[in-house]
Amino acid sequence: MKRVITYGTFDLLHYGHINLLKRAKALGDYLIVVISTDEFNWREKQKKCYFTYEQRKALVEAIRYVDLVIPEESWAQKRTDMHEYHVDTFVIGDDWEGKFDFLKEEGVEVVYLPRTPEISSSQIKKELYNAADVEDSKLNHDSINTNA
Ligand code: CTP
Repeated sequence: MKRVITYGTFDLLHYGHINLLKRAKALGDYLIVVISTDEFNWREKQKKCYFTYEQRKALVEAIRYVDLVIPEESWAQKRTDMHEYHVDTFVIGDDWEGKFDFLKEEGVEVVYLPRTPEISSSQIKKELYNAADVEDSKLNHDSINTNA
C-alpha cells in the first residue's frame, strides 16, 4: 500500500483544497492530511483561522479522498512523521516549490502539484470583508437617506 501525506491549514475549505486532495490521493492508496493547529498557525504564521482546528479536521475528514487527519504542531515534525506514518510520498501545492526537498533525505518522494488558480482562503476572507464594508456603507447611506 502506497502512503501519501500532505500538510496545510485548510481554513474555509474550497475547491482548490478538494482538487489538491483528489490529486494527492491519486498518487497512492492511503492519504494522510496534517492540519495546522490554531496555536501553530498563530505562533508560526501569524494567521488566525475562521474555523477552529476541530472544525477544520471534521470538514477534511468528511472528504472521500482522506483516510486520516492528524495535527501539525511544529515545523520539525515533518521528518519524524515520514517514519512514524511509513510515508512513501510527500505532496503539497507548488506555492511551496523546493521548500521540502530535504524530505528526500528521509527516503520519501517529494511532489509539488500546481495550485488551482484564483482561489485561496485569504482571498475569500478579503473579498467577504470588502463586500461587508460595501454592504455597511450602503446601509448607512440608506438610513441617512431615510432619516432625511
Ligand atoms: N492549494 C491549492 N490550490 C489553491 C489553494 C490551495 O492547490 N488554490 C493547496 C496548497 O498549495 C496546499 C493546500 O492546498 O497544498 C492547503 O493550502 P492552504 O494554505 O490551507 O490554503 P490556501 O487557500 O492557500 O490558504 P491561504 O490563502 O490562507 O494561504
